[in-house]
Amino acid sequence: MKLFIDTADLNEIKEIASWGILDGVTTNPTLLAKSGRSFQDVIDEIFKLVDGPISLEVVSENADDMVREAKQIVSKVPQKYQKNVAIKIPMTPEGLKAVKTLCKLGIQTNVTLIFSANQALLAAKAGATFVSPFIGRLDDNGQEGMRVIEEIMEIFCNYDIPTEVIVASVRHPIHVIESARIGADIATVPPEVIRKMVKHPLTDAGIKSFLKDWEKVKK
Ligand code: G3P
Repeated sequence: MKLFIDTADLNEIKEIASWGILDGVTTNPTLLAKSGRSFQDVIDEIFKLVDGPISLEVVSENADDMVREAKQIVSKVPQKYQKNVAIKIPMTPEGLKAVKTLCKLGIQTNVTLIFSANQALLAAKAGATFVSPFIGRLDDNGQEGMRVIEEIMEIFCNYDIPTEVIVASVRHPIHVIESARIGADIATVPPEVIRKMVKHPLTDAGIKSFLKDWEKVKK
């Protein structure tokens, strides 16, 4: 399973990318606002940090405007990185129209705010490169988010649908394990959850006792 980081915090991306574990980045307007940097600032840096799909979201609501905005975003990215741009498009009828056009133009799309297998199927049919079901928000709403991932993976497998499934709105490490067990293509994970995935108290305790014992034998 590929691992994306779900943040626009450039310091976190830089640090975690240095561990050699990142395959891409996803952002959204909320994450950009949290980063405290301007959109252009983030675009200028983010592509240098991770060589993989970088999702950047449009905020227009009709298809023509979404396509215009997507082209503008691509044009702001240095040419050598443009192949890595994935335009995040909301799951609406206008969004589907925009996905269809962007697919014809060869621009990657990531259809976001997906909450059902039917929405994922429609986005895939329109030509989405990626779909992003938001499992944490489903869990919050009293539905089992992981069940939607299972349904989508089963349907995409049945028909060899090439659209990749990004498990999004990940809240804790168990979401990542479950995504991998189901066979999801990608999980996009906030930095604080990636940090929890690295840690285990027995690892820390083991290091501490090895270092202590090393002191006894090193001379
Ligand atoms: O990738 C989508 C994600 O950023 C949304 O997460 O925690 O706001 O539901 P959350």
